[in-house]
Amino acid sequence: MRQPIIAGNWKMHKTGPETQEFMTQFLPLVAGVEHCEIVLCPPYTALSVIAAASQGTNIAFGAQNMHWELQGAFTGEVSAGMLKAAGCKYVILGHSERREYFGESDAVVNRKVKTALANALLPILCVGEKLEHREAGSTQQVVKGQLLGSLAGIAAVDVSKMVLAYEPIWAIGTGRTATSSDAEEVIAFIRAEVGALVGSAAAEAVRIQYGGSVKPDNAAELMAMPNIDGALVGGASLEPASFAKLVRYK
Ligand code: 13P
Repeated sequence: MRQPIIAGNWKMHKTGPETQEFMTQFLPLVAGVEHCEIVLCPPYTALSVIAAASQGTNIAFGAQNMHWELQGAFTGEVSAGMLKAAGCKYVILGHSERREYFGESDAVVNRKVKTALANALLPILCVGEKLEHREAGSTQQVVKGQLLGSLAGIAAVDVSKMVLAYEPIWAIGTGRTATSSDAEEVIAFIRAEVGALVGSAAAEAVRIQYGGSVKPDNAAELMAMPNIDGALVGGASLEPASFAKLVRYK
């Protein structure tokens, strides 16, 4: 049985004090939630605030990116070891905004996935097609290419621990959600491709989230789909009451 995982990707939002304020309001609203894992991915500068505030709670946290090397002359970058030492359990890798604005290729994402796993960080690996791909009918081809490139050389045992996130780019921040059946169709396809790549046991174990305009009022329908194991949430994770309502979709 896969435990659902609902993660907030705060992107470039919230200072440390704003994060503290969020946690003060959010923690009581989600206390006792056991039906899903709750994860917050704030900017690096707020990780220590989340680490302190989430101690002894049902909240895990992660970062939104990292470098593939462990240390060195890489001005402005952050390593897996640094994130691990900061208390991160997860790291989002290959988000479409990283791919689009910072030129991350599947090969780069693949190096990052390997480094994260080698340092006991669990990747939340994002894949997803652009509107033009969907309209051209090439969604599966694009997503398969991203998966094969990003997961190259990763052992089944490691893939089974990871989280995958299907985020159609046309649904991110647009208010345009994929229908639950469209999301289910692509996510079932992703699971089948993982099976073809590393075997059915890992495919059955790996958790696959949907992301793209997930809100409190569409979460239940998405989460009811057999292959959708969670949500990667941007905008609706920024406000404590809204994110708590989403987490309590059941
Ligand atoms: P929105 O929920 O704001 O559409 O963002 C989705 C996303 O990119 C999460 O990683």
